[in-house]
Amino acid sequence: MARRAIIIDTDPGQDDAVAILLALASDELEVLGVTAVAGNVPVALTERNARIVCELAGRPDIPVFAGCDRPIARPLVTAEHVHGKTGLDGPALPDPVMALQTAHGVDFIIDTLRTRAPGTVTLCPLGPLTNIATAFTRAPDIVPRVQEVVLMGGAYFEVGNITPAAEFNIFVDPEAAQIVFRSGAPITVMPLDVTHKALTTHARVEAFRAMGTEVGRMVAEWTDFFERFDKEKYGSQGAPLHDPCVIAYLIRPELFTGRHINVEIEVASELTRGMTVADWWRVSGRAPNAMFMGDIDAEGFFALLTERLARL
Ligand code: BDR
Ligand code: CA
Repeated sequence: MARRAIIIDTDPGQDDAVAILLALASDELEVLGVTAVAGNVPVALTERNARIVCELAGRPDIPVFAGCDRPIARPLVTAEHVHGKTGLDGPALPDPVMALQTAHGVDFIIDTLRTRAPGTVTLCPLGPLTNIATAFTRAPDIVPRVQEVVLMGGAYFEVGNITPAAEFNIFVDPEAAQIVFRSGAPITVMPLDVTHKALTTHARVEAFRAMGTEVGRMVAEWTDFFERFDKEKYGSQGAPLHDPCVIAYLIRPELFTGRHINVEIEVASELTRGMTVADWWRVSGRAPNAMFMGDIDAEGFFALLTERLARL
């Protein structure tokens, strides 16, 4: 079976880290590279964190690039209140040994899409869409060459997490999100409506710890750290494991269900900036531009995650 080639565009982030580990543990996927973006923490930390995670997976050969250090049209908003000062707070972190690539992440995205056969590279954005939108704007010829953009971001029924109306990744760079959603590339969205059903219960976290491996211990300790914020905020028994839903979809799409609908991004209003105006009920008459997921088989998702992480 041909492996599906992906670029992971990310702002690690504990849940980004778990997503990267899931991808590197899965034979179905070929990770061409990891591009870091400013989001949960500044890009100097997200690129460093991406290298730490590749090394943890035993894959220092994965090229890691630093991308954009700020949103297209606004100052950067970060989320240390969720992810801690480093973005990967929880366990003690080693210094990465592998080098950062010298090329810019946006150039890597453009060059990869231009040199690989059309329709064979999937983009997996797990943070603000700045790198992807910058690549699409600078090199519009790459857009029809994208196999699919599978992203974590937005919400419909859950509405927002960083503001009452917006999810963090879209809120941070709504202009970038608007460019991507209007690009014409095939888009699949994992919104909060899905990820808020992928909760780390006590039993699920203990299953990571019980692996008895370095990866199992780190994932359990990362989860312990970021859970505290969501448990308090939502009164839930665990925290949503957002970003691994993107990678799980590539491996087992049948775990997810959704609707092919129109999604527009609010960029003008201060009150609802970054809102994903998702036409779930198909009342707008606007043409569908995204597969917007609404549900997940959470048991199946955690079974997949545990089985794959145990391989590392
Ligand atoms: C998203 O925001 C970040 O904090 C997480 O890593 C995830 O990508 C959830 O809103
Ligand atoms: Ca993220």
